Amino acid sequence: MDPKAVHGFVGNKLSFSEVTPRDGIRMAAEMAPEDVVAIIGASGLRGRGGAGFPTGKKWEFARGQEGSPKYIICNADEGEPGTFKDRLILTDFPELVFAGMAIAGRAVGAEFGILYLRAEYGWLREHLDAALERCRVANTLGNNILGASDFSFDISIRMGSGAYVCGEETALLESLEGRRGDARNRIPFPVQAGYLGKPTVVNNVETLAWVPCIMVKGPSWFAAMGTRKAPGAWLFCVSGDCKRPGIYEYPFGTSLRQILSDVGAENAKAVQVGGASGTCVPPAQFDRTMTPGDLATGGSIIVFGPGQDMFAVAENFQHFFCDESCGQCIPCRLGNQRMLEAIGRMRKDGLTVDGERNVRQLAQTMTVASKCGLGQMSARAFLSILNNFSGELPGHV
Ligand code: NAI
Repeated sequence: MDPKAVHGFVGNKLSFSEVTPRDGIRMAAEMAPEDVVAIIGASGLRGRGGAGFPTGKKWEFARGQEGSPKYIICNADEGEPGTFKDRLILTDFPELVFAGMAIAGRAVGAEFGILYLRAEYGWLREHLDAALERCRVANTLGNNILGASDFSFDISIRMGSGAYVCGEETALLESLEGRRGDARNRIPFPVQAGYLGKPTVVNNVETLAWVPCIMVKGPSWFAAMGTRKAPGAWLFCVSGDCKRPGIYEYPFGTSLRQILSDVGAENAKAVQVGGASGTCVPPAQFDRTMTPGDLATGGSIIVFGPGQDMFAVAENFQHFFCDESCGQCIPCRLGNQRMLEAIGRMRKDGLTVDGERNVRQLAQTMTVASKCGLGQMSARAFLSILNNFSGELPGHV
């Protein structure tokens, strides 16, 4: 296996470096908007923020909306622990992301985009502003892009303030509108009523970066990289107890075991797939594959070596969710705190039958009753650790 990787591994370049963003915009400028939607739909591209919603479908929904103006928002509020691919993309390929936003604008009929940048990535602001200016000078942004009289699009950058929950798209929209970052109820979805109540496409940084690549190289190039059910490739952030941490590009369908071998983590005792809100996988499941239907991932893989205490890991994740819950809904605000206390008790006194039943009920309540993805996902890591590593608790027979 010869993955494309950066940061401390083989010198291969990512697919992103093989494409000139301007070529992607030119192709979109010469096409009817509905054909652009059709190309992205045919590629099978799915959202790279973690949920994997088909991008072509999202654009089609937005295109079909009557309201105007419409907006394209790039979600660069990358906050999932263990996830740092968007930072690399924005550092090395900002023009690709802006091209993806402009192409999305062409596709759905939007003329204005906003890149919502994570507060902790504030040092990237100047770099991104300079890249935006280069795009305007090259007329890949601005009025009548590359001479197309019906294609105008520009982008501004807005800063987050350091809240994990603002990576959730509706909390992000609230924050953009100048309010506290509290999640909204969906329905309506942002494609129906998003920024300022107008139809809005919110896409992740990586999703948008793939768009010009697909325009230039074709949907079948992209689809051929993965499996029939899960077309394409994905950027994985690998961290933790491994010899070669970094960012790797893998086609969908790659096994976890393969990735662990490439990064020098053959002796891993557990892998957290999808960050703190993901799933913890034991060695017996290392042959599972990275696909939305099997091990869905927001692109992050955290490796735990033989010396790690998995319930200390669970407690650490739980602290994070307690800190980051916005407090708006009770299942998330109190549920995460009660969960943290329960993990602490388990680590000290072991697991009782009642204790286990209660904590599983609490996890289920949080999953079904929390208002947004934060509370709905936060019990996942703990439950998978409980299912797979309960033998590590004191008093376990
Ligand atoms: P979701 O599945 O509810 O929605 C995904 C996207 O599809 C959204 O943009 C939504 O508006 C759109 N969508 C879904 N159904 C639709 C419909 N019927 N019509 C129109 N649009 C529709 O997932 P959600 O709650 O947006 O995100 C949860 C994911 O985020 C989880 O998988 C989690 O792992 C991931 N996540 C990622 C983080 C990161 O830093 N990248 C941080 C925390 C969580």
